[in-house]
Amino acid sequence: MPRRARIAGTGMSVGNRVVTNADMTQWMDTTEEWIEQRTGILERRWVDDTQKPSTLARDATLGALEQADLDVSDIDCILLATLSGEADFPGTAFFLHEAIDAGDIPCIDLRAQCSGFLYALQMADALIVAETYDRVLVVGAEVHSTGLDVSTSGRDVTVIFGDGSGAVILEATEAAGGAAPGLLSVRIHAEGKHAKRLWTEAPGSAHSPRLDQAMMEAGLHYPVMDGRFVFKHAVTRMPEVLLETLNSASVKMEDVDLFLFHQANLRINEFVAQKLEIPGDKIRNNIQRLGNCSAAALPILLAESSRDGSLSPGQVVSLTAFGSGFTWGSAVIRWG
Ligand code: COA
Repeated sequence: MPRRARIAGTGMSVGNRVVTNADMTQWMDTTEEWIEQRTGILERRWVDDTQKPSTLARDATLGALEQADLDVSDIDCILLATLSGEADFPGTAFFLHEAIDAGDIPCIDLRAQCSGFLYALQMADALIVAETYDRVLVVGAEVHSTGLDVSTSGRDVTVIFGDGSGAVILEATEAAGGAAPGLLSVRIHAEGKHAKRLWTEAPGSAHSPRLDQAMMEAGLHYPVMDGRFVFKHAVTRMPEVLLETLNSASVKMEDVDLFLFHQANLRINEFVAQKLEIPGDKIRNNIQRLGNCSAAALPILLAESSRDGSLSPGQVVSLTAFGSGFTWGSAVIRWG
């Protein structure tokens, strides 16, 4: 019997501090209206000094294990997607490994920015279908707030980011035909020629030293983004890959019950929905409350949707993301 990977549990965790648009106006030349109108964001959650990426990831993981009624010892491998590593090395996955006492199972950091969760999902799916592992913990975890320029020079990037983590347990099932629950298809892409359109240059091993005072004065340790360029590519690539993925799974648009998009800008998601004529009641966004949590955005949406009943067994959910790299991807899952 062919194998399929299904999501057995979801969990999430966000920063303890609520940071409002009014807070932003205290630090930089901006207005609450500008942020709300251009991005849809009203507030985001940033970590306090008790939280790190691995504590967020731990809490999300424990939630996913509880929902799946599983124990840490049931997991065979950890894949953690992040762009905001807890240390230069080793990866955040190792700090999570310690935090959940994961014995000696392997763990891997995956760096594909805002599409990281979909990249990790494809890798985890392949590992399960190939019978390498039976259960893989897939996590997105980000702490952006400690690396943002909160002055006016960073205002375009800083207002959009939030801190959080989302986790899913992916496990093997015997696929009894097309109607069986699980991951139906994942498609991912990249275009490295645009890497510097959205990046943080330092610290990086292309520099020696990797970071010094002059580099800090030039702001090389802060993210920079060509916002309009990124926006234009996001609204083109997201519909493209969403359709490609549905086609590859032989799922029709009208058969999808819930569309979840990466949460970078509400306007991007509205564009995508309009282009594909997706009715508003089939879309869930949380950027208004949480900002852009990069690799954590999609698993957080999955956790929220599965917990409040907007996603129930047998329903079909489509996930789509676009991010730095550039990277983009989409997945379609029959829930249950
Ligand atoms: N408050 C007030 N004004 C701001 C501002 C802020 N927080 N940020 C930028 N501005 C100003 C700019 O300085 C510029 O002023 P100017 O016209 O005097 O030069 C003006 O607003 C327009 O800037 P621009 O960057 O063109 O704005 P935008 O409408 O493109 O919106 C983003 C900026 C970041 C919201 C938008 O480009 C975006 O969402 N891009 C894509 C993000 C994304 O998808 N990222 C991928 C995953 S992370």
